Amino acid sequence: ATTLGASAAATGRYFGTAVAAGKLSDSTYAGILDREFDMVTAENEMKWDATEPSQNSFSYSRAEPIVSHARSHNQRIRGHALAWHQQQPGWAQSMSGTALRNAMVNHITQVATHYRGQIYAWDVVNEAFDDGGNGARRDSNLQRTGNDWIEVAFRTARAADPSAKLCYNDYNTDGQNAKSNAVYAMVQDFKARGVPIDCVGFQSHFNQASPVPSDYQANLQRFANLGLDVQITELDIEGSGQAQADNYARVVRACLAVTRCNGITVWGIRDTDSWRAGGTPLLFDGNGNKKAAYTSTLNALNAG
Ligand code: G3I
Repeated sequence: ATTLGASAAATGRYFGTAVAAGKLSDSTYAGILDREFDMVTAENEMKWDATEPSQNSFSYSRAEPIVSHARSHNQRIRGHALAWHQQQPGWAQSMSGTALRNAMVNHITQVATHYRGQIYAWDVVNEAFDDGGNGARRDSNLQRTGNDWIEVAFRTARAADPSAKLCYNDYNTDGQNAKSNAVYAMVQDFKARGVPIDCVGFQSHFNQASPVPSDYQANLQRFANLGLDVQITELDIEGSGQAQADNYARVVRACLAVTRCNGITVWGIRDTDSWRAGGTPLLFDGNGNKKAAYTSTLNALNAG
């Protein structure tokens, strides 16, 4: 096939991108979005600060342009993110203990119920593990409400929207290391105890300091072997030219080699849309032209 979405679909997978609501009126941006992608993630508009700006007062207006655009263009939606230590509204940042735990549960219940039946997969909990080599949980106001906050988040999301896949999502878990081992142990434990979890998202933000790991495919496979899906959720790869193109192809081949890898989402469309200021980590240049990385990604999808 000749587009990312159609080529991924021929393998039974999706190809998605992060979308910023404020860019939908840019015709170059929207044109590429609707030509190439069949899954979207709101880059910021479904986060806690956006959806519950004051406590128990919910607002879906920032995400609405993304949701309605997706619906009218046959794009599915990954929900991002229900519980996260970042981008909390100020009122939640200053809460702790039982009050914060109850606020988290209410947030998940309200947001997942609002979107019930419309979300392919939710990032229920995002980035809950520490980057140090000790495999510990990340310290945060949510973590300090008790170690069971993650399973409570998953059970709450399942009750609110039984049809969405429920994912744990993180970065620097793309290869086998202390952090991914800790996530692996948590998933294993959740599976053993019947805590509802359906997928693990591997953000896959790569650069020179954090390249595509040599055991990327093996790491995706060991999670899939636990009996759940894996998804590449926020892919971007710093670099340029053939080296960048080769890295994108490696990521695509790894996903295609893992039966339970459902699809790939890149974290933006053009290099100028990236959260990496001044970087060139995406598939289209600032003018919307296809880069070598686009061609290698498309070819790798079509080879699968
Ligand atoms: O809302 C203000 C706006 O009013 C102001 O004009 C503008 C000026 O710069 O800033 C706007 O907010 C920024 C927002 O992006 C929208 O551009 C925030 O300051 C900024 O913090 C926010 O950054 C986002 C970041 O998450 C926050 O943690 C990035 O867009 C977004 O790409 C990034 O995405 C995260 C994933 O959610 C989780 N994984 C890592 C990934 C990359 O950091």
